[in-house]
Formats: sequence, C-alpha cells, structure tokens
Amino acid sequence: MTSDDSSSKTRKTGFLEVPIKVSVVATSGALSKTITVDTDKDSERLTVKIVIDPPPVPAMSDTNRLQNQMISQSDRQAVFKADCASCHVSSIEGKYGKQLYDSVCGVCHEAEHRAAMVPDLHSLTVPTGEQFWRTWISYGRQGSLMPAFAKTENGPLTDMQITTLATYLSTAIPSR
Ligand code: HEC
Ligand code: HEC
Repeated sequence: MTSDDSSSKTRKTGFLEVPIKVSVVATSGALSKTITVDTDKDSERLTVKIVIDPPPVPAMSDTNRLQNQMISQSDRQAVFKADCASCHVSSIEGKYGKQLYDSVCGVCHEAEHRAAMVPDLHSLTVPTGEQFWRTWISYGRQGSLMPAFAKTENGPLTDMQITTLATYLSTAIPSR
C-alpha cells in the first residue's frame, strides 16, 4: 500500500493517512486484518479491527405496535410465532449470555421507545439473583405481555441458553 501526494503535507507532523479498503462478507461480528505499509523510510505492520454490529430491528408504526400489543395480550407467546419471530427471536441458535439477551430480551426491555408496561430491568427495586432471572425467563408472567421462554412452556430457549442468560444477568445487573 502506498501513500499519495497529499501525504507530503501531513508527513511533517508525523502523520500519514492511509486509505484502506476491506471487502467483508459477514453481516455481523468482529474480524481483524493485518496490513503492511511500506514507505521509503520504513515498513510497518498495522492491525485493522472491524466490528460490525447486527442490523438494528426496524422501528414500527404506532398502529402496528398497538396491534402487536393486542395480539400479545391474547397470547403472550405470539412473539415467538409467524412474522413476529422474525424480529423477536431471529437467529438465536448458538447464542448465549449477553448476545442472547441483546436479541431476545433487548428488543422489548432495551428499546429506545420502551413501552410503559415494559419495566426497565436496570432499575428494579426487588432483590434479584440467578433464580429470579431464571424464573422470569422461563415462565414470564401470565396475564402480562412477558412471554415464557422455556421450551417446556412452548418458548424458544434451551435450558442451557436460559442458564447462561440467568448467569449473565445476575452479574450484569447486580441485585440491589
Ligand atoms: C419489524 C420488527 C418487529 C416485528 C415483526 C414485531 N415486533 Fe414486536 N417489537 C419490535 C420492537 C423494535 C419493539 C420495541 C418497541 C419499539 O421499538 O417499538 C417491540 C415490542 C413489542 C412488545 C412490547 C410492547 C411494546 O409495544 O413495546 C410486544 C408485546 C410485541 N412487540 C409483540 C409483537 C407481536 C405479537 C408481533 C407479531 C404480531 C410483533 N411484536 C412483531 C419489533 C417487532
Ligand atoms: C414482548 C416483550 C418482552 C420480551 C421479549 C421480554 N420481556 Fe420481560 N417483561 C415484559 C413485560 C411487559 C413485563 C412486565 C410484566 C408484568 O406486567 O408483570 C416484563 C417483565 C420482566 C421481568 C420482571 C421485572 C419486575 O418488574 O420484577 C423480568 C425480570 C424480565 N421481564 C426479564 C426478561 C428477560 C430476561 C427477557 C429475555 C429472555 C425478557 N424479559 C423478554 C416484556 C418482555
């Protein structure tokens, strides 16, 4: 890789701007590439770290949102079915802990426009802990919009996934 003429201006200050182009096929995740920059003075190996966030879940219209809330009111497990699943439980296979939280819980609990009936999990006033998280995740609460995630309750998560979520949350959100 070489520098162009414009670098002669910046060279005096000790900086060299090197434009790089990387072709990426992944849609999310992290990767690093090493490049070697040769100049007439020296040669240097640089590491470029690229982090691609998963695409944000698209926002919804208020009408859609109200419709969805009504569907959940009559069946809180609806989020795991049909079209709803495409946003609420997309690609959860092989996901654990924080990653899993971000995709299946974050969609409701960390939403920028979090609905009034969805509690902020970071400011709970009740004592929490691994068992607290495990119970809520597995069974949710009947008569509310909080679904049950355990397979035994017709939810999408394996025991192992629920365990890693409960472990992650009990450290990430310490009990008061
Ligand atoms: C296009 C993606 C998408 C689809 C499809 C989708 N949701 Fe959601 N859902 C979201 C997002 C994002 C939020 C967080 C609130 C927000 O940003 O509007 C959310 C929040 C919710 C909530 C929490 C209450 C609220 O309004 O915030 C419920 C309940 C819900 N969705 C149920 C459903 C049901 C039932 C379906 C299928 C009929 C569904 N959703 C389909 C993206 C989606
Ligand atoms: C469809 C939206 C939705 C999703 C997805 C969701 N929740 Fe909830 N959650 C709610 C709502 C609504 C409540 C309030 C229930 C009630 O009225 O008691 C709630 C309540 C809770 C509570 C009880 C908080 C308290 O006030 O004591 C916990 C804990 C919780 N959720 C954790 C999670 C975790 C962990 C996940 C992911 C595995 C998750 N939730 C996914 C909507 C959601």
